[in-house]
Amino acid sequence: MILLDNVSKYYPRDKKPALDEINLHIQPKEFVFLVGESGAGKSTLIKMLTREEKPTYGNIMVGGIDYKYMKKRHVPHLRRRIGVVFQDFKLLPNRTVYENVAFALEIVGVSNAEIKRTVPKVLELVGLSDVSHKFPDALSGGQRQRVAIARSMARQPKILIADEPTGNLDPENSWGIIRLLEEINNFGTTILVTTHDAEVVNQLRRRVVTLSHGKIIGDQKEGGHYDLDGSRTRIAKRSLGGPAPNTAAAPKTVHVPSLEEASAAKATPSKTETKNSASGSAVLEQMRKAKAADEAKPVAKRRKFIH
Ligand SMILES: Nc1ncnc2c1ncn2[C@@H]1O[C@H](COP(=O)(O)OP(=O)(O)OP(=O)(O)O)[C@@H](O)[C@H]1O
Ligand SMILES: [Mg+2]
Repeated sequence: MILLDNVSKYYPRDKKPALDEINLHIQPKEFVFLVGESGAGKSTLIKMLTREEKPTYGNIMVGGIDYKYMKKRHVPHLRRRIGVVFQDFKLLPNRTVYENVAFALEIVGVSNAEIKRTVPKVLELVGLSDVSHKFPDALSGGQRQRVAIARSMARQPKILIADEPTGNLDPENSWGIIRLLEEINNFGTTILVTTHDAEVVNQLRRRVVTLSHGKIIGDQKEGGHYDLDGSRTRIAKRSLGGPAPNTAAAPKTVHVPSLEEASAAKATPSKTETKNSASGSAVLEQMRKAKAADEAKPVAKRRKFIH
């Protein structure tokens, strides 16, 4: 569960708040889009949740942790309980792709044998097997973002927060990542995603929270049709079932597969899709089994799973 109780954030020397009296409740297992114009406060809200920044007023609870009582030494513990994908990747520059993902497991005490089993599967899931030996500076922006997603997923968090995870990906990869997030959500992980991508929001019909100038100006249980126009502040909400939005002038156009196309693709998947979705299911299945086995152990012997 994620709970923001009347949270305001003033950055030093700013007269206007980046977040202004935010009240937000996200239930376990929800999939929520956080949208809004550039500068609306989306990343600030996420930094509140990861404790990169503290609220000026108000309080936050995430996964049963009350931030009011959180000491600095508790912050690493918090960051192990939530998976975060940042807009600017935050990869370790001196470690390879493989090592970046492995490191996320090492620091929470996962055995070497399990790291060796899990990392290749997670990399395959995000389509990075071929570059596992490369260092971040030898990757494209899109590839870096996928490493960040692989790294946060490897620890099987109960809550996954992603700040513009598709911002640097081409349309095909964007949809791959979004479908992946849906799959992780189906597994029971709460997902909070910021995006400027109207097509993704419109297609998924998930809860959409809209920020503008630091305030929540909309909270739709099932996303409708939006025109989210990148840098501009206009967010026109249209009724469900109305005519299709005119996205011709939008800076980014993405082909949105229709339900027919999606089910046809499912019936006759391409070679790559088959491979990726099979390995995706495999890694999730492995995680499910490992977690069930762990929960059967006495508490003292349990591995540190991230909840
Ligand atoms: N570290 C900081 N110091 C001072 N002001 C900041 C800082 N970070 C963000 N801001 C300000 O807070 C406001 C919200 O910024 P934020 O990064 O949260 O927006 P955003 O919705 O994530 O935008 P974008 O879609 O461009 O990523 C902006 O006015 C921004 O200038
Ligand atoms: Mg941002």
